[in-house]
Amino acid sequence: MMTQPDLLQNYQDIFQTTDTPRSFFAPGRINLIGEHTDYNGGHVFPAAISLGTYAIARKRADQTLRFYSMNFPDAGIIECTLSDLSFNSDHDWANFPKGMIHTFIENGFSIPSGMDVLFYGDIPNGAGLSSSASIEMATGVVLEELFDLEIERLQMIRLGQKVENDYLGVNSGIMDQFAIGKGKKDHAMLLDCQTLKFSYAPVELNGYEIVIINSNKQRTLAASKYNERRSECEQALADLQKELPIDSLGELSGEQFEQHKHLITNDINRKRAKHAVYENERTVRALSELEQGHIEAFGNLMNASHVSLRDDYEVTGAELDKIAETAWSHPGVIGARMTGAGFGGCAIAIVEQAQIDNFKKTLTTVYSEDFGYPPSFYETKISDGAKELVEEWQL
Ligand code: GLA
Repeated sequence: MMTQPDLLQNYQDIFQTTDTPRSFFAPGRINLIGEHTDYNGGHVFPAAISLGTYAIARKRADQTLRFYSMNFPDAGIIECTLSDLSFNSDHDWANFPKGMIHTFIENGFSIPSGMDVLFYGDIPNGAGLSSSASIEMATGVVLEELFDLEIERLQMIRLGQKVENDYLGVNSGIMDQFAIGKGKKDHAMLLDCQTLKFSYAPVELNGYEIVIINSNKQRTLAASKYNERRSECEQALADLQKELPIDSLGELSGEQFEQHKHLITNDINRKRAKHAVYENERTVRALSELEQGHIEAFGNLMNASHVSLRDDYEVTGAELDKIAETAWSHPGVIGARMTGAGFGGCAIAIVEQAQIDNFKKTLTTVYSEDFGYPPSFYETKISDGAKELVEEWQL
């Protein structure tokens, strides 16, 4: 367990300085519902969480950038200069902050000097809770504050997405950076990814809690399968556009989809589009159920989301299915589904407080029997978006 003084002490030891640097935090995110809808012009319903990335930083007088992650101590200090911010596989995890700095500069922001930055994440890496968007947005607020940049939050969010798309080659949508950039304590946000209009919705679960379950399954080939799903949806859209004047799958109701689905020539693409259309409808409905306090109806929509991701979008896998299916039959669980991109990673479940311990025990037993290793559980709160930490803070 790391504390604020520990991080500051580590900073001073690693960068051999007695200066007091400034501290920043960017959360991770969960998505309650609305999966693989963002790049299809649909709705998503994510929330920022209290697990995330801490960045401790100070400017340097020269052009050198030095990065250190307490999560990857073996990688040591990774160094480069402002004049060469190109992607470098030897720089490993540091390509995330490098990519953000590169993208800021490319978009006209002035970064006149280098920095020493230490990162520490209490968010599991690569587990579908957006550790990558978290480090990108942590870097974004570091740049904004250290260099007094005038940047709208929405622009920072878009630049984070650009790092994924153009610098790292993952064609992801805007959900992760948006949730992390605009998160609000105790609120989820319903975002229309086509217009970027959004609204906050209080998450009041009265006696229930959101439990995050990490399948601990290594996510292999996730980026290439993700890009493949995206292009399957684009092909389905192109087929539909032969008769329909639409810009995205998110514009279609389920009924319209049924009337026109024959236009999609490939069976697989048709299943992918079906998921995108119905998941979007479920997401919009989910907000109104939550607002009316219909937690069970909300849970049912989460379950239907998982089924669709399992059968039509095919991104769940045996591990996440086992978690969701075990949760569905457990007393006190009103909804469970995978969260994030899938292909391994995390699931979330809404569980009655009194049943949480029992649920964890049961799931650990049945999951370990099938896969030979246990899942992990995280307790987390819904929290604010990326920001500088100005007061005494606690991890
Ligand atoms: C990843 C991407 C997001 C989104 C989800 C799936 O987290 O980064 O843009 O597409 O997968 O909903």
